[in-house]
Amino acid sequence: MSVEVIPTIKIEKTLNSKIDKVDFNNLPFGQYTTDHMFICDYVDGKWQQPKIVPYQNISLDPSSKIFHYGQSVFEGMKAYKDIDGKVWLFRPEDNQRRINISAKRMAIPELPAEYFMEGLKALLKLDSDWIPTSEGSSLYVRPFVFASGDGFHASPSDEYKFVIACSPSGTYFNRKVKLLIEQHFSRSANGGVGYAKAGGNYGGQFYPTKLANDKGYDQVIWTDDTTHEYIEEAGAMNIFIRIGDTLITAPVSDRILDGITRKSIIEIAKDEGIDVEVRRISVNELQEASKTGSLKEIFGAGTAAVISPVYAFGYNEKDYHLPDVENSYADFLKKKITDIQYNRSEDKFGWRYLVE
Ligand code: PLP
Ligand code: COI
Repeated sequence: MSVEVIPTIKIEKTLNSKIDKVDFNNLPFGQYTTDHMFICDYVDGKWQQPKIVPYQNISLDPSSKIFHYGQSVFEGMKAYKDIDGKVWLFRPEDNQRRINISAKRMAIPELPAEYFMEGLKALLKLDSDWIPTSEGSSLYVRPFVFASGDGFHASPSDEYKFVIACSPSGTYFNRKVKLLIEQHFSRSANGGVGYAKAGGNYGGQFYPTKLANDKGYDQVIWTDDTTHEYIEEAGAMNIFIRIGDTLITAPVSDRILDGITRKSIIEIAKDEGIDVEVRRISVNELQEASKTGSLKEIFGAGTAAVISPVYAFGYNEKDYHLPDVENSYADFLKKKITDIQYNRSEDKFGWRYLVE
């Protein structure tokens, strides 16, 4: 394997920190940004000198391909600070690999692993004072790559920018959510880009999600594009369903994102002796389980949302309410995974990654 050596990252520190303007006890999700950002250009067929610079606007030609053809991919990660002030990431190499899987699908040049990992570490070290420590908060980290080359020709760009920006963030959902099972729109299709974290996947969700919001639902449960009979994902989360004492989640495919939270939850649950089934689950099975009382829990899982329990789902103009269960899997698994992430427990799987 050839290891690409990253040129030393050039660092230009800000002279005007904005950290005092942020109320760290009252953080929304993803609204504030830190003092610095990592940036690296792809020009002349290769990734150039990586830099960390004061957080700033990016200037682009109006014909830049990102505006017209949507060549963009991103990742979502979190940095956590433990009670001793040590900074941790959770399975960051998986994000590094996934951004390249997404990039390949969008005809974006892949990033050498070292650029991603070294850029991430250097930025987090510089902005470590921005990592919040209040309950449920963390530093949301957003690496992304987009087409910055210009020209209206509908072909892949010859220039790209790889940026890492960070946002001190509170919880994504601060309460249980109500989801609408989507019967018409699709998030992804066979042979499409659903498995990639491509910007357009999210843009395409906003309209159906807005329609669901207007009816009082927080998010949409995406179903398969062919029949709309099988449950796939929930908003920007993978979805888990507990029937009896069995935890069920859909297998990943080219329509479903291979979520890092999802696969960690599967491993933790199995390790804890919970019966886990990775298989297709139909809307019909969900309705039947709700009617007979065997449907105990539904929750979404993702980096931003962590584990988000669902209190009801809607289908065919009818709402189905989830019971309040004792010994909820969602609560149990959320505690297990966040204890690993925040360095509050042993990390038997080796998922925690020390930044500094
Ligand atoms: N599914 C979609 C569509 C997402 O956007 C996300 C968020 O990243 C997830 C699932 C969860 O993935 P992960 O746990 O890797 O954050
Ligand atoms: C994440 O969970 O990190 C995501 O990317 C979801 C995001 C669209 C808020």
